[in-house]
Amino acid sequence: MRVDKFLHAMRIGTRTQVRRLIKDGHITANGEPVISGKQQINPGSDTVFLDDVQVRYQQYFYYVMNKPVGVITATTDSAAKTVMDLFNTTDFRDDLFPVGRLDKDTEGILVITNDGALSHDLLSPNHHVTKVYEAEVTGEITAAQLANFNDGITLKDGTELQPAQAEIVQFHEIENFTTIRIMIHEGKYHQVKRMVGTLGERVVGLRRIKFGSLTLPVGLLAGNYRALTDDELTALKADANQPVGE
Ligand code: URA
Repeated sequence: MRVDKFLHAMRIGTRTQVRRLIKDGHITANGEPVISGKQQINPGSDTVFLDDVQVRYQQYFYYVMNKPVGVITATTDSAAKTVMDLFNTTDFRDDLFPVGRLDKDTEGILVITNDGALSHDLLSPNHHVTKVYEAEVTGEITAAQLANFNDGITLKDGTELQPAQAEIVQFHEIENFTTIRIMIHEGKYHQVKRMVGTLGERVVGLRRIKFGSLTLPVGLLAGNYRALTDDELTALKADANQPVGE
């Protein structure tokens, strides 16, 4: 692999910054100065340093984003802004992708990675990673209505849903809407909106606050992202390995 590609892939800097670091003599490979970005290195066995800090090879990258309303959950789109457009040039890699999807008008926690196996396991129906949403719903919703979700409901198109747990957070009397919290264990298309639709009401605001054991980090503003901590990643991997029903 070219050393400049390696340094960029390890998020040392943009392509231009990496070129400059090489030109200015900041990079060594196996103790020898690197003079060209074209120089080939083996990321698994060669030792690369940026000044006196070793640049270690990392295969997988994991981020948690607070997806804002108005961007789509996709890697590319010819017209709309995507969640990948929110990455800065140092962190962006073209193999990153979002794990699952949130609607354009939904905000909240979204995991972005280049680890296809983990993503597959998290989304697999065999693991049923739990997701928690806060929804603003038209009208006054009662606990009895939400109790219907406990046994699993059938949507208008015949889709049968697994049991879900929902509770009332607050009824906003003046504006006449109810904030509810709902926990689902699958990820059907527009699932929360369609569940609320069975109550004869509409979702007017939707925010995902939990994905598996990951909680939307306090202080992570909409549109921002950060790398997962080691503890968060360990917990997420445990979620992905959880057998059904546990
Ligand atoms: N359910 C929905 O209706 N929309 C989302 O974005 C996520 C869950």
